[in-house]
Amino acid sequence: MSTKASEFIEILDMSLVDLDCVYELEFNTYDYPWTRNIIKDCIINKYDCYIAKNQTVIGYAISKITSIDSHILNLTVDKKYRNMGIASSFIEMIISKAKTYNSNSIFLETRASNLAAKKLYEKYGFKSIDIRKNYYKTFHGREDAIIYRKVLI
Ligand SMILES: CC(C)(COP(=O)(O)OP(=O)(O)OC[C@H]1O[C@@H](n2cnc3c(N)ncnc32)[C@H](O)[C@@H]1OP(=O)(O)O)[C@@H](O)C(=O)NCCC(=O)NCCS
Repeated sequence: MSTKASEFIEILDMSLVDLDCVYELEFNTYDYPWTRNIIKDCIINKYDCYIAKNQTVIGYAISKITSIDSHILNLTVDKKYRNMGIASSFIEMIISKAKTYNSNSIFLETRASNLAAKKLYEKYGFKSIDIRKNYYKTFHGREDAIIYRKVLI
């Protein structure tokens, strides 16, 4: 039987004390990571930033939830803890909070090659609504971004 995230993690608001751990995970996950300062600005500017924690940070979500539209800007889970429902816990929380704000929609974008992310978002009712051609850098050139939207109203 697979381990469920809810059995061993807590989801907490991200604060500046988490910045080093979050940045380390960001740096270790992506070929083109966000800078430490971008993450810091999101915390300081009160974006809706969350961490999943057991002893240390094993995942995080950075979103902006408003009464007009909401955006998921970054969603990352440590490789060792994937497929346990951690990203799902973040998404469910963000959808629920966006609904309480009467947000119309949640938007996000992902690399066209990111099959795990696309499956995840589609599982939660996000529909692909547009493509930004050649939006992301790759080691070999550029790749498209797929823009997803989940309508909440
Ligand atoms: C994408 C990512 C956030 C998923 O996190 P996770 O905690 O492993 O996801 P969950 O366990 O909640 O999975 C939920 C659903 O996502 C999909 N999914 C997750 N990993 C998958 C994979 N490797 N292949 C196919 N589908 C996958 C499935 O639909 C899964 O539902 P199921 O278990 O009923 O099949 C994680 O793989 C990750 O951090 N990847 C690197 C960073 C990244 O690409 N972030 C997204 C940027 S847009």
